[in-house]
Amino acid sequence: MNLRIGVIGTGAIGKEHINRITNKLSGAEITAVTDVNQEAAKQTVQDFELNASVYPDDDSLLASENVDAVLVTSWGPAHESSVLKAIQHGKYVFCEKPLATTAEGCMRIVKEEMKTGKRLVQVGFMRRYDSGYIQLKEAIDNRAVGEPLMIHCAHRNPTVASNYSTDMAVVDTLVHEIDVLHWLVNDDYESVQVIYPKKSKNALPHLKDPQMVIIETKGGIVINAEIYVNCKYGYDIQCEIVGEDGVIKLPEPSSISLRKEGKLSTDILMDWQRRFAAAYDAEIQDFIESIRKKGEVSGPTAWDGYIAAVTTDACVKAQESGQKEPVALQEKPAFYQSFTTVSK
Ligand SMILES: NC(=O)c1ccc[n+]([C@@H]2O[C@H](COP(=O)([O-])OP(=O)(O)OC[C@H]3O[C@@H](n4cnc5c(N)ncnc54)[C@H](O)[C@@H]3O)[C@@H](O)[C@H]2O)c1
Repeated sequence: MNLRIGVIGTGAIGKEHINRITNKLSGAEITAVTDVNQEAAKQTVQDFELNASVYPDDDSLLASENVDAVLVTSWGPAHESSVLKAIQHGKYVFCEKPLATTAEGCMRIVKEEMKTGKRLVQVGFMRRYDSGYIQLKEAIDNRAVGEPLMIHCAHRNPTVASNYSTDMAVVDTLVHEIDVLHWLVNDDYESVQVIYPKKSKNALPHLKDPQMVIIETKGGIVINAEIYVNCKYGYDIQCEIVGEDGVIKLPEPSSISLRKEGKLSTDILMDWQRRFAAAYDAEIQDFIESIRKKGEVSGPTAWDGYIAAVTTDACVKAQESGQKEPVALQEKPAFYQSFTTVSK
């Protein structure tokens, strides 16, 4: 029997996940949807020709016997409440980032999940399912370059909407590096600092762009992470690990090489949807298969959501203070100790 999935929030990413579950992946079907915009929810059912009920709110959807698991793809500030209610109903929950908008909110989810004694919550940090990052992780775990010492990375977008603000550079953009980097090197963050280079002429007046975030880990690794969201030329994710004995680099997305008019060129992708399409498919397929085979989820944990919230809070503080700010994580509960990777 297919896993019966309810979707809370039928906006952009909610529809993308509905599409992949309905038309690309196996083992699940969408049986329920809700959105504060009820018309959007009804339209989604029509557009994807779903055999799904439209519920007035998350409470009624979560109470339905026709739902085994939910995707929380609503607006960020609504995530915590839906995730807590899902856990209380004993439903598996895949939550898009942020798990909650505050570290305290993430901790409430952590505590609620631990009460159940099993993993119900997966957070949508899809980079851990990207084949390039998985190769990096395997090389680091196999000590291919000895101990990692430094990481240089960049997160570049061609452009952003006019309501994109300086803090969103860390809360919405860098959050993906924040999640994937501590997973790659199996280390915790110690401190963060934000430096503003010369401002780009492409950035709107209210936005500080680019930004450089310096992160130190407890193990002494120094990370410099560039965020540049008006780079114009493409959506470009770079990551280079400098180890004691060599350097490993995130592979470029594969693309044909074109020889023409005296030039050799390859395409650069322009959007994150295409760059990480396979990773989004893999994370949702893993959610489905883990529940069906093990009765538990196995991807990024609620604790990872908590780490992201504490670290982005520290980055926002560092944006304002100009100082090095501590990343003050509580001690990791034993419940989450064994859930450190999803590398396949
Ligand atoms: N992992 C990623 O790379 C990635 C990519 C895009 C978006 N996201 C995250 O996914 C979430 C949704 O982003 P989006 O781009 O789809 O936004 P969106 O604005 O397109 O969609 C959000 C939808 O949620 C609905 N909604 C808001 N509050 C609700 C509530 N309480 N109950 C039910 N529905 C509610 C809205 O009406 C809207 O239809 C955000 O948290 C965003 O950060 C993650």
